[in-house]
Order: sequence, then structure tokens, then C-alpha cells
Amino acid sequence: MLVPTGVLVADARAAGRAIPAFNVILIEHAEAIVAGAEAAGLPVILQISENAVKFHGDRLAPIAAASAAIAATAGVGVALHLDHVKDSALVDQAAAHGFSSVMVDASKLPYDENVAATAAAVERLHAQGLWVESELGEVGGKAGDPHAPGVRTDPAEAARYTAATGVDALAVAVGSSHAMTSRTARLDHDLIAALRDAIAVPLVLHGSSGVPDEELTAAVKAGMVKINIGTALNTAFTGAVRETLAADPALVDPRKYLSPARDAIATTVRTMTTLLAS
Ligand code: G3H
Ligand code: ZN
Repeated sequence: MLVPTGVLVADARAAGRAIPAFNVILIEHAEAIVAGAEAAGLPVILQISENAVKFHGDRLAPIAAASAAIAATAGVGVALHLDHVKDSALVDQAAAHGFSSVMVDASKLPYDENVAATAAAVERLHAQGLWVESELGEVGGKAGDPHAPGVRTDPAEAARYTAATGVDALAVAVGSSHAMTSRTARLDHDLIAALRDAIAVPLVLHGSSGVPDEELTAAVKAGMVKINIGTALNTAFTGAVRETLAADPALVDPRKYLSPARDAIATTVRTMTTLLAS
């Protein structure tokens, strides 16, 4: 069933666990994420990034509608979140396409401009009843944007920022980096705890694919509530496609290689969702 993001995040926080948010690129991602969540018997967030919307020819409607339909018939709670949005026109399309939350990404802007852009988006989104996440202290690793080791979110600045913007959750830089295909990231757990104590809203970890299991569980203990995972799904999906095609070079029906790839995502989702609830 479709559930608002704010409800899933609040429930997880109250229970001292984390809620995973998995990135959807293709309809198979949404199907697999929900299948994995159902196998775990736990709720999940489906998130579609601005980059994924661009991939679909700048059309939000088809992938949003497919994800919403899959969420609506799920046997567990599933929320729909629009992720890493820089384009304010896209921010304003979220509610009409069934999203209950948006991550407004002004993290590349200087502090004052990040505050101004985020506060303006928060005002518009709150007026429509949407939950808003934003980022302070850039988590690196997006395309053409290598992670700068040592970039960290300052707790005092985070307190000023959340008060000035009115956001409902804050993505912070604590050692993770986007798009890692090996799980070698080390997080600053003292900083996570200091951020948790400095601000009233829940913390969000981006770039979680590169974070080992024990680092993730320690991060949840220290105060992380929403855990964003994308690349780990693509690693599983593409690995299964490669393996299937290598085993049968004559294969041409996409259903024959997309089925094991979808199953591989579902297995990853079940494992990670279970880990984050433990
Ligand atoms: O917002 C999305 C996430 O931060 C995903 O990062 O692909 O490195 O897991 P990842
Ligand atoms: Zn991210």
C-alpha cells in the first residue's frame, strides 16, 4: 500500500531502526524493490532521481505512474520520493505525480544560496503537504564529481540550516560517497551522533552502497534514519544480466535476462532491508 514518506521515516525513528530508500531507474527496479520488501515483510521507500527522469527523456509521468501502481498493490508500506532534485520546475511536479516527498538538492551552492533555494522550495512543498529532505555538506561521487575526502557536515551549521530552511530531514556528509561499487567506505560515527544531537529532524545517509554492513548498523545506532541505496541494486542487476548473456550468447528475448536481474535486485533489497531493521 502507498504510505507517505514522512510516516515511514517517523515510524522507523520511533522504533530506533532505519528505513531504506532504493533508487528506481526502470520499472523492473520498482517491481524488484517491492518484491524484496515483501519478502522481508518490511516497508521501503521507492525513490526516483532527477537523473532517472532525464534518462526517460525528461518525462516524469511514465516511471512515476508505474512506481505508484506497483506501490499501491504492495503487501507492505511503500512510499514514493523524488530524489536529488535541482530543477525547481520538477519540484513543482512532484505532488501531481503521486510523490509524498522531495529531496531538494542545493548542496553544490554556497551556504546562503542553499538556504534560500531550499527554504523557497520547502514553503511551496509544505503548502501541498509534502515532506522535504535537503543536503548540507556535499556527499560527493555524482557523475563528474569525485568525492572530496574530508568533506563533512558541521553540526552547528546544520542546526542553523535546519532552523532557517524548515526541512523535515537532512542529508549529511559523514564519510560516504555516491556510486561506490565496493563496500569500503568508513563513516564518522561520532559526527553522526553529534549531528543527531544538534538537530531536531532525522538524518539521511546518501551513497550507502559503498558502506559495509557493520558500518551501516553502527550508523543507524548513532542516529541515521533514512538510508539511500542505488548502486548496489545496479551492481546486482547488471551482474545477473552479464552472467545470463555469457551463459547463452544466442539469447535475444530481454525477459530471459531481465528476470534473473530483477530477482538479483529483490535479493539485495531483502537482505539490506532486513539488516537496517535489526
Ligand atoms: O540518493 C541516492 C543515494 O544516495 C544512492 O547512492 O548509489 O551510492 O547507493 P548509491
Ligand atoms: Zn544521494
